[in-house]
Amino acid sequence: MAKTNLLNEMCAKYTTAQDVKAMGIYPYYRPISSGQDPVVTMASGQKVLMFGSNSYLGLSDDPRLKEAAIEAVRKYGSSCSGSRFLNGTLDLHEELEAKLAKFVGKEEAVTYSTGFQVNLGVISALAPRGGFVFLDALDHACIIDGARLGFSEVRKFAHNDMDALERKLRLTPRNAIKLIVVDGVYSMEGDIAPLPRIVELCDKYNASVMVDDAHGLGVIGENGSGTASHYGLTDQTDLIMGTFSKSFGSLGGFIAGSHEVLNYLKHNSRTLIFSASMTPAAAAAASKALDIMIEEPERREHLWEVTRHAQKAFKDNGFDTGHTQSPIIPLFVRDTIKAMTAVKLALEQGVFITPVIEPAVPKKDVLIRFALMATHTVEQVDEAVDKLTKIFRQLEIIA
Ligand SMILES: Cc1ncc(COP(=O)(O)O)c(C=O)c1O
Repeated sequence: MAKTNLLNEMCAKYTTAQDVKAMGIYPYYRPISSGQDPVVTMASGQKVLMFGSNSYLGLSDDPRLKEAAIEAVRKYGSSCSGSRFLNGTLDLHEELEAKLAKFVGKEEAVTYSTGFQVNLGVISALAPRGGFVFLDALDHACIIDGARLGFSEVRKFAHNDMDALERKLRLTPRNAIKLIVVDGVYSMEGDIAPLPRIVELCDKYNASVMVDDAHGLGVIGENGSGTASHYGLTDQTDLIMGTFSKSFGSLGGFIAGSHEVLNYLKHNSRTLIFSASMTPAAAAAASKALDIMIEEPERREHLWEVTRHAQKAFKDNGFDTGHTQSPIIPLFVRDTIKAMTAVKLALEQGVFITPVIEPAVPKKDVLIRFALMATHTVEQVDEAVDKLTKIFRQLEIIA
């Protein structure tokens, strides 16, 4: 029995999760006992179709990544036992960084142990007192937290609304440091940032732009090199951030940009300097994934084939899929209980999907996220769309 104290009392007042559990529709922390493949095995032994993963290229269970990780553990051990800054830099990290910089078309890159830490450590370091950080309303949580940790004033603009961004930029001094941070591909809605307009505004108002390409890398742009490349705007995009937890099938993240900014970050970014570096296994797996990404364009082509197929099938069946332009397909439900119920019924019927509810999105934007992988087949997509159509009709989410 936990002792009574203020902290326990405060936490005990949070009952949302228990309430949902009592209703039998709690959709989180569902244990899986296999790799993130198109079919995963739940801890219960049930085999289900996985449409809730971020492994867009289907690489996280690829034998070549696993072998690279095992080799790295054999050579370097299980941990670097320190930060990049001090004792935790391996030749493996430096090789990966050189490849990443070339891949995204920037002068230099540095890796962090997670994507979340990249955004915390980069944005906070580049947000000095007297400066301004401009955030899209749908930016990922770690972008928001990175801005919170900085000293600059934070200005939010409505999602992808470039007039709103311009109005905010107009009100800031020309000579103040101004950093605009956007997702390249939005993680829940699947739409793409209007980078051409953002770059124009950067020129006009003397601002810089950082693109979080967690969901763009591996998926769009030349060889999957992301949103800036997709628009042909690599040179005009100041900073490109990526994570290894999606298309790269590993764990960790990086920031790429000019020598000057990278040098500054390497000596001032606290989540880099004061946190242990990427494990050898994670670095080796990410590096192998990058090679495969470049050498096997057919993976990305197939990802797009199943993506287009799924987008059309959902639309034909009357789903509201918003403005997706990517393998992330939002299925708008606009009702929390219905969304959780649909996720539960789907799992019972063999389809793993994930809900996106308040406070992550406003109630009117509650959705189910359906995400494709290069390893899915068209038949698997059809099976999932059929099952979800029946469930959505049963719950009167679609007609
Ligand atoms: C847009 C975006 N940025 C950053 C992150 C954080 O990445 P990581 O999982 O590597 O910490 C995520 C992960 O959900 C993301 O979706």
